[in-house]
Amino acid sequence: MIEVKGIRKKFGDLEVLKGLDLTVNKGDVIAILGPSGSGKTTLLRCMNFLERADEGTMYFDSDVVDMHKADKKTIHNIRNKTAFVFQSFNLFTNKTALENVTIGLTVARKMDKHKAEEIGKKLLDKVGLSDKYNSYPSQLSGGQQQRVGIARALAADPEIIYFDEPTSALDPELIGEVLKVIKELADDGMTMLVVTHEMNFAKNVSNRVIFMEEGKIISSSGTKEFFEEQKNERVRNFIKNILKKGE
Ligand SMILES: Nc1ncnc2c1ncn2[C@@H]1O[C@H](COP(=O)(O)OP(=O)(O)O)[C@@H](O)[C@H]1O
Ligand SMILES: [Mg+2]
Repeated sequence: MIEVKGIRKKFGDLEVLKGLDLTVNKGDVIAILGPSGSGKTTLLRCMNFLERADEGTMYFDSDVVDMHKADKKTIHNIRNKTAFVFQSFNLFTNKTALENVTIGLTVARKMDKHKAEEIGKKLLDKVGLSDKYNSYPSQLSGGQQQRVGIARALAADPEIIYFDEPTSALDPELIGEVLKVIKELADDGMTMLVVTHEMNFAKNVSNRVIFMEEGKIISSSGTKEFFEEQKNERVRNFIKNILKKGE
């Protein structure tokens, strides 16, 4: 469905992505692991054109896109098929949960307000927030805010959703409710790339895992093989250390 080849990105002299290749098939849930600073966020941002790659080719459905040179219209077309869930939620603080979900529909897609609200309410119901349509972000817990963020992503009816550490800003007791929603999307067959440090989530929900270090993918395989037959010692130690921290 999506394939990227040779993504490179520098910030000044700092080479953050050093020529990555990644193939995403429809229905894949790919967990992206790796230490802080390895380029995980930058990879997702480049794939969604929130950041402009220096080099790289994207094959999205039948389109072939030069990721450095892509024009506005091409980016617009790709963004129409993708959605992004941010670590820090990125909700409008002066808008209700429902308005946060519908604004992309009414403004960008010029949808009739009532129709958009009908869709928005259904999506808030789906993430377990049927009693919070009119709440402002400040009246919601972090877990609830992130579920609004997921409902907003779904409103775009995307082919793929990129999640950038969706639970890392949450108190531990709120992580489960967000992961549960993401698991339900996986069960529905949604295609997702999920940057996460939640090893149990990666183990139980993803079908593939990639591990990044210093701007490269150093391990990539099916989930079972990744965890049970991991040949790379650094990756094994990273997993062990994270599991230890969680105890
Ligand atoms: N906008 C930016 N300007 C300059 N440096 C950046 C920018 N975004 C990220 N970096 C740097 O790129 C590297 C990779 O960052 P990032 O993709 O956020 O890694 P990760 O998500 O794996 O923690 C880090 O060294 C970070 O400081
Ligand atoms: Mg990051």
